[in-house]
Amino acid sequence: MAAGLEEAPVGRAERPPVGGPSIGANVPRKEGRGKVTGAARYVDDVVMDGMLYGATVRSPVARGRIVGVHYDPAFDWSEVVVVTAADVPARNLVTLILEDQPVLADGVVNHPEEAVVLLAHPDRWYVEEARRHVRLEIEPLPAVLDIDAALAAETVIWGDDNVLKRIDLAKGDVDAAFAAAAGRDDVVVVEGVYETGAQEQLYIEPQGMIAVATPGQGVTVWGSLQCPYYVHKALVPMFGLPEEQVRVVQMTTGGGFGGKEEYPSMIAGHAALLSWKAGGRPVKLIYDRAEDMVATTKRHPSRTRHRTLVTRDGELLAMDIDFVLDGGAYATLSAVVLSRGTIHAAGPYRVPHVRVTSRAVATNLPPHGAFRGFGAPQSIFAVERHLDKVAKALGMTPEALRRRNLLSEGDTTATGQTVTERIDLPRMMRMAMDEARWDERKRAYAEHNAVPGQTVLKGLGLATFFHGSGFTGSGESYLASVVHAEATAEGRVVVLAASTEIGQGTNTIFSQVASDALGLPYEWVDVAQPDTAAVPDSGPTVASRTTMVVGKLVERAALGLRDKLQAEGLLGREYTPEQFAEACAAWHASRGRLLAASEYKAPPGVVWDDATYRGSAYGSYGWACYVAAVAVDTVTWETRVEDFVAVQDIGTVIHPVLAAGQVEGGVAQGIGWALSEEVVWNDGRMANGRMTNYIMPTAMDLPDLRVFFQPVPYEHGPAGAKGVGELPMDGPAPAIVNAIEDALGVAVDAIPVTPERLMRAVKQAEAARG
Ligand code: MOS
Repeated sequence: MAAGLEEAPVGRAERPPVGGPSIGANVPRKEGRGKVTGAARYVDDVVMDGMLYGATVRSPVARGRIVGVHYDPAFDWSEVVVVTAADVPARNLVTLILEDQPVLADGVVNHPEEAVVLLAHPDRWYVEEARRHVRLEIEPLPAVLDIDAALAAETVIWGDDNVLKRIDLAKGDVDAAFAAAAGRDDVVVVEGVYETGAQEQLYIEPQGMIAVATPGQGVTVWGSLQCPYYVHKALVPMFGLPEEQVRVVQMTTGGGFGGKEEYPSMIAGHAALLSWKAGGRPVKLIYDRAEDMVATTKRHPSRTRHRTLVTRDGELLAMDIDFVLDGGAYATLSAVVLSRGTIHAAGPYRVPHVRVTSRAVATNLPPHGAFRGFGAPQSIFAVERHLDKVAKALGMTPEALRRRNLLSEGDTTATGQTVTERIDLPRMMRMAMDEARWDERKRAYAEHNAVPGQTVLKGLGLATFFHGSGFTGSGESYLASVVHAEATAEGRVVVLAASTEIGQGTNTIFSQVASDALGLPYEWVDVAQPDTAAVPDSGPTVASRTTMVVGKLVERAALGLRDKLQAEGLLGREYTPEQFAEACAAWHASRGRLLAASEYKAPPGVVWDDATYRGSAYGSYGWACYVAAVAVDTVTWETRVEDFVAVQDIGTVIHPVLAAGQVEGGVAQGIGWALSEEVVWNDGRMANGRMTNYIMPTAMDLPDLRVFFQPVPYEHGPAGAKGVGELPMDGPAPAIVNAIEDALGVAVDAIPVTPERLMRAVKQAEAARG
């Protein structure tokens, strides 16, 4: 690492007065041309000599003992490669956090769609047919199919009590606060229970991998994935190979949303096992949409109980929160999804006493996993619905209750983190409400809803929320991510990072950051294809960390190139791009490659204690207020979002079009999660694994999404940027469901609010009223 790199001055003021400042400009996407022209290569575009096609035989049942595997004797198996658990060279394990998930079921199955047998054949359709000629004989065992059954633990399927992970977060003394309030008539206790369903990521490109694997040469996989080094970490122990004999290459990837965070390790393992058995012939394993929907991870279903102590004039005194996630059959990422959900569970509010008791429980469903927001959308849905309930109990407006309690500088979060950033949530709330013409609409809706015989009722709802950028707690310090930058003899800069472009703009943002730092044209910067043989481990592409955390490393690595050239006297303090290129040429002529590296170091003051769950949960947060206007048809019980305003602070906006696209996409996914995307479980199996019966919103179902940024630069982000990826997933569902309550006067506390669920809720409320 270049001397002085750590202290290198960064930020716009220090940029040499040359080149084009691309921060804040809507430069063309780096990978856009390739995608538009069809030149971009997705994994299924790749054909290799002698390649076989793989298929997976899966458990039809939630839990059972594998008694036999029967291969139809009337079928020609002569050219079919068959792999079972017995063929795993080293450890039958998908290594992630805990070591509990086999790459192929061995003896027992613990969820529907669990992989038991793998097949490969030179003909893609023959292998599909072959799959239908394998019969798994499974003796069923009692299964745990939901959160209640898991907590009851009458059937124990994991550990001693079905609890995959428990977290206890405490601030102040909740019990003492409630005890002290007993008998006081100036306080109120409000309780509520909130539930969210599973959600499928529905990236455009289904998952897939190609592998070449032999004992002599090791394992190489190419595929659609978010985290090359996660796949690498899983393959090394599975094959018992030295790290350098496992190579993972990301192909152009058509979306991820968290869905390609952990499951690609499974598919990579399967493809590599088939190739290993087939003597090193390449094996392509591509899921079609139906297989992808039923077998891969989804958002964790959740249940949150709130008990809140609040003064009659709206001051939040204590929050007691019980948060449960359905993790599915194996631990996978549930512990960290639970962590993020727990930390966000009390919302962006000043509450002196907070207790969050959190558990991720095991069920015999396919493991739930990463999905944009990573637990926070679940707990934020609960707290933002609950605040509307509290407001109603107090006879206050939802906005007045929030305004009274919003965090501001100097306050502490639920983990005891003192907010040092400048934030002005009340102002963002006012902006969002003004943009939505809140007061005017309220009056108009009241009149509209009062028209006799009115069948379409309208309402307004809002949510104020936050989302931490980067890994939780000390996660970033443990990761110790590294980025390299290289300058060619022509003065072009190549960013070497494991961060993946999955459609969200990684390559564009990195190029903007590097070119801005060096004062070079945007076009002079390229981003290397993530390949574990060529790029350092800059951590996974998750957790809203790519721009803020890895982008900062890109900035520092790029400046390291400049510093090296300057230290050798090849480059002046001020320079033109041409002079930079000349300096690079001179370096190459006498010294060879020009490389610089940067490694993550926690910003000062970011300290976290895993044992007590206290401290700086995240280096920085995005802050937001979203407003939804809805129309509910009381004949069909359909809800339509008619207007949506999203105001947020994500720090400096590096690329306004991409950032707005992130918000629009997140809101669209939030609308689907809130209203229509329902996974129907049939004995633990997804019964509606088609895009015709799993209903995601289309452009026709979306209102104009109106996106506004209120940037407050973050001093430790590149050019002041924070994360944006996940934040927009957190606010839409509570804003929409709050608006539904505003329209109907009926509380709905579980999503998705499908027409069926809404009709039931209204009929129940009517029956209760008598
Ligand atoms: Mo993620 S949900 O890819 O952190």
